[in-house]
Amino acid sequence: MKILSIETSCDETAVSIIDAKGTVLNPEFKILGNALYSQAKLHEKYGGVYPNLAKREHQKNLVPLLRLALKEARFFKLKVKSEKLKVKVTQIQKILEREPELLEQFLKFLPTVKRPRIDAIAVTEGPGLEPALWVGINFAKALSTYWNISLIPVNHMEGHFLSVLYSGKEKFEIKYPALALLISGGHTELVYAKKPLSYKVIGRTRDDAVGETYDKVARMLSLPYPGGPKISSLANKARKLKMKNEKSKIKLPRPMINSKDFDFSFSGLKTAVLYSIKDRKLKTQEKIALALEFENAIRDVLISKSKKAILKFKSRTFIVAGGVIANQFLRKEFEKLIKNYPKIKLLIPLKELSTDNSIMIGIAGYLKYLSGKKFKNSEKIKASGNLSL
Ligand code: KG4
Ligand code: ZN
Repeated sequence: MKILSIETSCDETAVSIIDAKGTVLNPEFKILGNALYSQAKLHEKYGGVYPNLAKREHQKNLVPLLRLALKEARFFKLKVKSEKLKVKVTQIQKILEREPELLEQFLKFLPTVKRPRIDAIAVTEGPGLEPALWVGINFAKALSTYWNISLIPVNHMEGHFLSVLYSGKEKFEIKYPALALLISGGHTELVYAKKPLSYKVIGRTRDDAVGETYDKVARMLSLPYPGGPKISSLANKARKLKMKNEKSKIKLPRPMINSKDFDFSFSGLKTAVLYSIKDRKLKTQEKIALALEFENAIRDVLISKSKKAILKFKSRTFIVAGGVIANQFLRKEFEKLIKNYPKIKLLIPLKELSTDNSIMIGIAGYLKYLSGKKFKNSEKIKASGNLSL
């Protein structure tokens, strides 16, 4: 079946069309069209995502991205004559009453294209920034009404979990029970899934998420948002220079590394970085050394908690997903860890599917559709900023 999916939970606006077939345990996906716009540059000066700006940008970009995705999927056919859809127009006006700019573009564009052969629309309902989520949800509702296509609400974190199912060439299967470490800008959680689509969060951060910590530390070092890639490239420089931590004298804590549970805490690490800087302007060498020690601290905590979870919960697959695992160094560290457990297969999404995207939302939408669960009436779907797995 063909699924159109929409993601607007944070600062990426994304629309894609996938072709999905197979079963829950053995699904297969083909990407027909994929259009993504990252607002990261616009949020740079705020040092993080500014919700109202994100909302405005999603409004502006959804119709152009839909157009691109339809074009790439060869679903873009112009209509000879636009139909008279008075009743629908009134409904659409109501659905998009809070997004006037999106409404205007919608009513200009939609009547000019033929209804594509799409079977379902999947949209992120949460967690994320509510003003941002609402734009995607209302857009999905408007499309669903206009084309008369059913709507599937998707949990963004379930999207990250299942993002490993598209790997390009090689086919990836999640064998259950599965364990997952989800590390993104808003979340850090260890999840146990005994069977498909059934998740238990066994540990989570008590304060900042890993990606958020990278972003905040980057800000302390006067590096722009998003901080993850910037810090990690500094740390890589240190590794290339074979800089030794002992020499740089910086020692950062590994919070909760020995705690008996599966929870995390990163705010102490962030504060320790702040104290080590002490309002000074760091020299490049010092920044590099600090980035190295910081990334090593993150690595130590993530690997140690993952190991603990692997030892406690019997699993056949270990997934590491979310924006932070775009990090090449951390990817290698997880590969090293899993080598010790030959019965467990490590699955990590492609780099483009690690950070936010709509393909993972389409994948999760398909599995939800296969599960046969009845979805909420599309009118009842609402943004849920703190939705949990
Ligand atoms: O999954 P994601 O795109 O959005 C959320 O759902 O939050 O994750 C974004 C986070 C940001 O905090 C960003 O700094 C971090 O992922 N990130 C990285 C890297 N690339 C992105 N963190 C560390 N190393 C990277 N290479
Ligand atoms: Zn995400």
